[in-house]
Amino acid sequence: MPKLRIHSFGISLDGYGAGPGQDLANPLGVGGAALHEWAIATRTFRQMLGQDGGTTGTDDEFAARGFRNIGAWIIGRNMFGPIRGPWPDENWKGWWGDNPPFHTPVFVLTHHPRASIAMSGGTTFHFVSDGIHAALERAGDAANGQDVRLGGGVATIRQYLCEGLIDEMHLAISPALLGSGEHLLAGIDASKLGYQCTEHVPTTNVTHVVLTRGT
Ligand SMILES: NC(=O)c1ccc[n+]([C@@H]2O[C@H](COP(=O)([O-])OP(=O)(O)OC[C@H]3O[C@@H](n4cnc5c(N)ncnc54)[C@H](OP(=O)(O)O)[C@@H]3O)[C@@H](O)[C@H]2O)c1
Repeated sequence: MPKLRIHSFGISLDGYGAGPGQDLANPLGVGGAALHEWAIATRTFRQMLGQDGGTTGTDDEFAARGFRNIGAWIIGRNMFGPIRGPWPDENWKGWWGDNPPFHTPVFVLTHHPRASIAMSGGTTFHFVSDGIHAALERAGDAANGQDVRLGGGVATIRQYLCEGLIDEMHLAISPALLGSGEHLLAGIDASKLGYQCTEHVPTTNVTHVVLTRGT
């Protein structure tokens, strides 16, 4: 069985995974960019964008883990873009340009069906409207023996978490207070769901925490 893994999911000190008011100008919600500063500084992230340089060490190692043995992704419709409701046309193809950084099939949860979009570099966006289990099954098949990465956003992660379907969840806690937005764990008893903290490593930028589901 492929594992369902979360990596490099940034949260604020007060537990938010995205700021409020996401739109074209604020893909991560207002203030949400602060949750990703550690990641965009890493060599792994810069390489993903075709850039040289970047930090090495613990932050980079955690970022790199998230790309090993991943054969498919699942994301929510709001991570895919800022458009809500029925698709007005076929123009929006994600935030990431012609060659998105996934390089695998990506299953986008949405209530609004849409034809698949093949991008450069091996990424194909498939739109799934029959629920989280169907998305996981399709992603597991597409991963072809590798694991599935759950990219986010918050609403999507919360659904998989409540069903106990996430095997491993790496969170990077930034020293920032957002005060509002999308809260990752509010009202969820992760301990009762069988999760425990199996790793916690502070760096000067963030604290890395790994939650793993017990057997
Ligand atoms: N902190 C991080 O590391 C990180 C990582 C990724 C993303 N983000 C941020 O998180 C924010 C997005 O998170 P979010 O919680 O707003 O939304 P999300 O989880 O990305 O997407 C939620 C939307 O996906 C669709 N959806 C979700 N579950 C579904 C289901 N079971 N069946 C059908 N459709 C379903 C619905 O859209 P429709 O009903 O409209 O189709 C729903 O409104 C963005 O700001 C993004 O940048 C942060």
